[in-house]
Amino acid sequence: MTTNWYNESVFYELYIRAYKDSNGDGHGDFRGAMEKLDHIKSLGVDCIWVMPHYPSPLLDDGYDISDYMGVHSDYGTLDDFKDFLDAAHARGLKVITDMVMNHTSDQHPWFQAARQDKNSPYRDYYVWSDTGTEYADARIIFLDTEPSNWTYDKVAGQYFWHRFYRSQPDLNYDNPQVHEEMFKAMRFWLDMGIDGFRVDAIPYLYEREGTNCENLPETHKFLKKMRRMVDDEYPGTLLIAEANQWPEDLLPYFGTTEAPEFQICFHFPIMPRLYMALKKGDKTPIVDILNRTPQKPEGTQWMTFLRNHDELTLEMVTPEEREWMWQQYAPNPRAKLNLGIRRRQIPLLDNDKRKWFLLNALFLSLPGAPIIYYGDEIGMGDNIWFPDRHGCRTPMQWDAGKNAGFSDAKETYLPVLCDDAYGYQQVNVVVQEDDPDSYLNLTRFLIQTRQRQSALKTGEMEWVETGNNSVLAFRRHIGKEGVLCLFNLSNQPQTFTLKRERVDLLSKSQQALSGTLTIASRGAHWLK
Ligand code: GLC
Repeated sequence: MTTNWYNESVFYELYIRAYKDSNGDGHGDFRGAMEKLDHIKSLGVDCIWVMPHYPSPLLDDGYDISDYMGVHSDYGTLDDFKDFLDAAHARGLKVITDMVMNHTSDQHPWFQAARQDKNSPYRDYYVWSDTGTEYADARIIFLDTEPSNWTYDKVAGQYFWHRFYRSQPDLNYDNPQVHEEMFKAMRFWLDMGIDGFRVDAIPYLYEREGTNCENLPETHKFLKKMRRMVDDEYPGTLLIAEANQWPEDLLPYFGTTEAPEFQICFHFPIMPRLYMALKKGDKTPIVDILNRTPQKPEGTQWMTFLRNHDELTLEMVTPEEREWMWQQYAPNPRAKLNLGIRRRQIPLLDNDKRKWFLLNALFLSLPGAPIIYYGDEIGMGDNIWFPDRHGCRTPMQWDAGKNAGFSDAKETYLPVLCDDAYGYQQVNVVVQEDDPDSYLNLTRFLIQTRQRQSALKTGEMEWVETGNNSVLAFRRHIGKEGVLCLFNLSNQPQTFTLKRERVDLLSKSQQALSGTLTIASRGAHWLK
């Protein structure tokens, strides 16, 4: 079996603006993040995904890029970026950055030139229409804010196409010059030594009349070309696909052995079903979606996650399931956003450590490369009253001092959380360091225990029949070496009969177990 580093890795999603401010301007920056690399390393993760760090008006938190080859002045300089990269590499941490290919900011000089002059070579970098009526079958993604995927631009005298905010005009991939521009940007960062990219919003690169403008053959053709460029010029570079799609539509993003696309694809549909199964006390949603997930090509990997910087997306569930999830997890309508829920992991779990442990032990034993969202390792909270998705992007809580140890500034880019349950006075890295049962130390324990078991990293998965919908059981194994993973999703104790003596990797006592095992309510076992 081929194993590449990324197949076995645990990832960490880092929001530079939120992490650590080194110069007291209220915004996190690369020099600040550098000071905190030891924290990231201490979790046992292998690779950091840096959210967009480019110059940007920040109308979509940097997913609106105005210069692909720079660093946002709030975050530092190119030299700071390089130092951060070197410091991460020196600790054995890989670094990938975000590559936003589908669109630019409307402040990008390409768009400014395009709108001002019909004859500019940049006009054709974007998608225009006289009527704004084309591609009517394409859904609107940010449906709480955008009434249409077309917006009229007075200066241009035409409508331009955008799948996200109107401040993010889509690039025109029918223009090969656009491919070259993107490759140029990728080479720029790869030359600096980064290890790969998380490639943003890739299902939407092309538009074709009469389709929903997602996952088009033209898109796959371009992605194969991109992978070829990277493989030829920067062998070993990791490309991760952000495609919020059903499993059968995700599979093509791996490409084929002869013509590959991405080594890793986020598995979007599994994520909401983990929360669903936990709330229902029933394993069925998890079993169903994994049974529906096709076999991926040799050497590729899924990426699993519990939360990220976006709303907890409910795009990959049925309308009935979505309503149910909203009822259960977003009783306050303010917590809803677009087709999702703008809450962090711990508030969704009622700050209940048993639920948290169960969900995280489950997540970390599923097939795939797991990614942890910054702050979730200490059980950070959220604030649903902040606009957009900002409530899940508040400053990292390092200690109980001023601004949670994030910044010396009078005012920070967003206020630090200071409510009774999740405020920085209670929830911070320093207090949790000393508590063996803190979220922080349990996160470390789970990640490190997982990383010592090859079967949990890259092993096959096989269901184990329990005759009980509350008890999810599967075996991860490489040949005969394996771990039996058992989870009681219900709030009642359940039993399971062990066929042979086993040791629970999740119990501190490491006692041998045999015969009838009682799994406590919301209990989790990794049995070797
Ligand atoms: C991706 C990002 C999201 C962003 C969108 C548009 O889905 O995760 O934060 O708003 O793309 O770039």
